[in-house]
Amino acid sequence: MSTSIFKKGFACTGLLLALASCQNNPQAKITVVEQNDTLTVLEIANPTPYILLPIEESAPEAKVCLSTGDPGDTEMDIRLAQNQVDYLIPFALPTDDDKATLRIRMAPKDNICWQKMELTHTVDSTNVDPFRPVYHHTPLYGWMNDANGLVYKDGEYHLFYQYNPYGSMWGNMHWGHSVSQDLIHWEPFPVALERDTLGQIFSGSSVVDKDNTAGFGPGAIIAFYTSASDKNGQIQCMAYSTDNARTFTKYEKNPILTPFDGLKDFRDPKVFWYEPQKKWVMIVSADKEMRFYSSTNLKDWTYMSAFGAGYGAQPNQFECPDMVELPVDGDENNKKWALLVNINPGCLFGGSATEYFVGDFDGNKFTCDTKPEVAKWLDWGKDHYATVCFSNTGDRVIAVPWMSNWQYANIVPTSQFRSANALPRELSLFTEGNDIYVAANPVKEVENIRQEAQQLPDFEVKDTYAIDTLLADNQGAYEMCFTLQPNAANISGFKLKNSKGEEVNIYLDQKAGKVVMDRTQSGIVEFGKDATLHQKETENMGAKNAVNYIDNFALATWAPTKKSSNHQFRIFVDKCSVELFVDGGKIAMTNLVFPNEPYNSVEFYNDKGSSTIKDMHIYELKL
Ligand code: FRU
Repeated sequence: MSTSIFKKGFACTGLLLALASCQNNPQAKITVVEQNDTLTVLEIANPTPYILLPIEESAPEAKVCLSTGDPGDTEMDIRLAQNQVDYLIPFALPTDDDKATLRIRMAPKDNICWQKMELTHTVDSTNVDPFRPVYHHTPLYGWMNDANGLVYKDGEYHLFYQYNPYGSMWGNMHWGHSVSQDLIHWEPFPVALERDTLGQIFSGSSVVDKDNTAGFGPGAIIAFYTSASDKNGQIQCMAYSTDNARTFTKYEKNPILTPFDGLKDFRDPKVFWYEPQKKWVMIVSADKEMRFYSSTNLKDWTYMSAFGAGYGAQPNQFECPDMVELPVDGDENNKKWALLVNINPGCLFGGSATEYFVGDFDGNKFTCDTKPEVAKWLDWGKDHYATVCFSNTGDRVIAVPWMSNWQYANIVPTSQFRSANALPRELSLFTEGNDIYVAANPVKEVENIRQEAQQLPDFEVKDTYAIDTLLADNQGAYEMCFTLQPNAANISGFKLKNSKGEEVNIYLDQKAGKVVMDRTQSGIVEFGKDATLHQKETENMGAKNAVNYIDNFALATWAPTKKSSNHQFRIFVDKCSVELFVDGGKIAMTNLVFPNEPYNSVEFYNDKGSSTIKDMHIYELKL
């Protein structure tokens, strides 16, 4: 019998303090052998593969440990339900023994969780979340943030990710794992790296060690990550796989790199091969700069240089570096390096965002082409973060963003899972004026999931022009593309709408030189109200203890654009996201939305004269 962890109808009856048994396995039994407000010891006789733990997201974290007597036994932080059960999560039990022991600290004995635990053989993680995207990657259940260790090998793209399998909020960082052959269809794989006694497994990267420089075998996939704990701080570690990422072994001599100055924020190692000097380079985010190291065996690292202090948007905390070399305007003889720097905070619209610097790298040091005050953005939305690229993809540079923002990622209105990745994007460099920028376009593979196309004859927009039905059976997953000629209009745009009056308003403001995406009326937005007391403002207003609400979610984001007689628009909608690409990816803008019904009509509008819409296509997208 399988057990849905997000619906009622569980396989086994609940734990009634002293005893519970699983109907499927009558011998399986939970016994409370010790219990007070700080410690509960549960003994499970003839364990089933999982015990389901009841979660209440607003409860404090209890410490749950499968106690085997091994020094590697690790406590997990789990929000065991105090007063109500939001959902259940599976916790794996060893089935090769006739007894398992769980030691649970910091969960008071009158918590409701003790009555609601379940034993089960299998877990049914069928989707029950109306906002789960159709063609964007998500974990089956639980929390996800940054993409990690992106690597391609033998026809498979491996997407590891910051994963909490024990709840849909941040915590217990593991590396989750999904595999794809086309960057669009993802198959869930077992967890690759579990949180351990050295710490949580924070973000990092992977390489294919073709020439066996590390000695784990030619072609080994080697993952680099940060172990993070209060005790050890943030230290860089490695793990290797000799079976194409099916299993990983953590290196026995971890850590391989610690900060020379005891820096607290020192994480997210990005490793790549630097061919001209036949060496590996590691970039580590170090508070407000990136530090560069080199190695010939992937185990011993030497400090080379640092870049970034005072550069770009301020204030910032650098995280998740990446650096890629790309031809400028497609010219293979003129290549530049783009250093991707994820910063939090620093986003123009609040919270987290990805900026980049274009320049040169001589094997030791990155030199930026532009002045420190110049900030360039990889995406102009609010839900694009921790973006890093695949390794081992030849000439293609494919980046994968995490589609959320630290301001509200933990409280978006989903619960079976939290967070998706934005569409994988192919990066390229283009020149505009005297500067070089990065363009980001959805990978071409997404075109393979286009269902039948609706092609519209070109039309003029005088005031408004409505297309009442985008798709006959709209599941909230589609692509729309067209050319917009603003003609004499200052404002020309379109609203994606549903029958509940919810809309996303996207427009070109020729006068201000902006492309704007406004999600203030997009659906569920209230969760983004941040009740922060703004001392200065409230004192200015003379209302000492007044609370000011900052709206982190209900807002518009915008990107600068040049005046032009026509612009290419490409829009991807997938249940809870809108990704906009303008003029071949020169502008990318990614925003979450939570409509109560899919947007199934579009209204074009302008403020004066008539604008023209050409080559408009609408495609349903389906896996
Ligand atoms: C970025 C980040 C990384 C860190 C990880 C922890 O979103 O803060 O710097 O490694 O998330 O989950």
